[in-house]
Amino acid sequence: KRVLVLHGPNLNLLGKREPDIYGATTLQTINDRLNARAAELGLELTIIQTNYEGKMIDAIQQAQDNYACIIINPAAFTHYSVAVRDALAAINVPAIEVHLSNIYRREEFRHHSVISPVAVGQIAGFGADGYLLALEAAVCLIRGASL
Ligand code: DQA
Repeated sequence: KRVLVLHGPNLNLLGKREPDIYGATTLQTINDRLNARAAELGLELTIIQTNYEGKMIDAIQQAQDNYACIIINPAAFTHYSVAVRDALAAINVPAIEVHLSNIYRREEFRHHSVISPVAVGQIAGFGADGYLLALEAAVCLIRGASL
């Protein structure tokens, strides 16, 4: 089973970027851990990081028929990109929303996600481990154990 992992803008800077909020783990390390766990679970991952909204939308559109599940950290797009939300709504591949930080205990403008209504669920506040939790959730979704 194939799972698409999408990392949004500025996540290429993880490790250096506001480490007090996002942690010291680099994106490369996160991706290595994801690939290692995916191999144990028998999943095949495609991992994409982009700083461009259009690239994220293209990747979501192309996920139709190619992936069983999407794990997405839309980063700042979370809070305003109706276009990313519409792309997720347009396909019938279930999406799991991930945030390293707990967006609800941060600035007011981060409290709202335009993505959540089109995601199966959200994992936020567990740092880099959130991606691994999302992978376990993906297995549940693929097994059909969730709503
Ligand atoms: C983030 C939270 C967003 O508010 C922020 O814009 C990010 C990262 C997170 O993973 O905690 O870039 O999605």
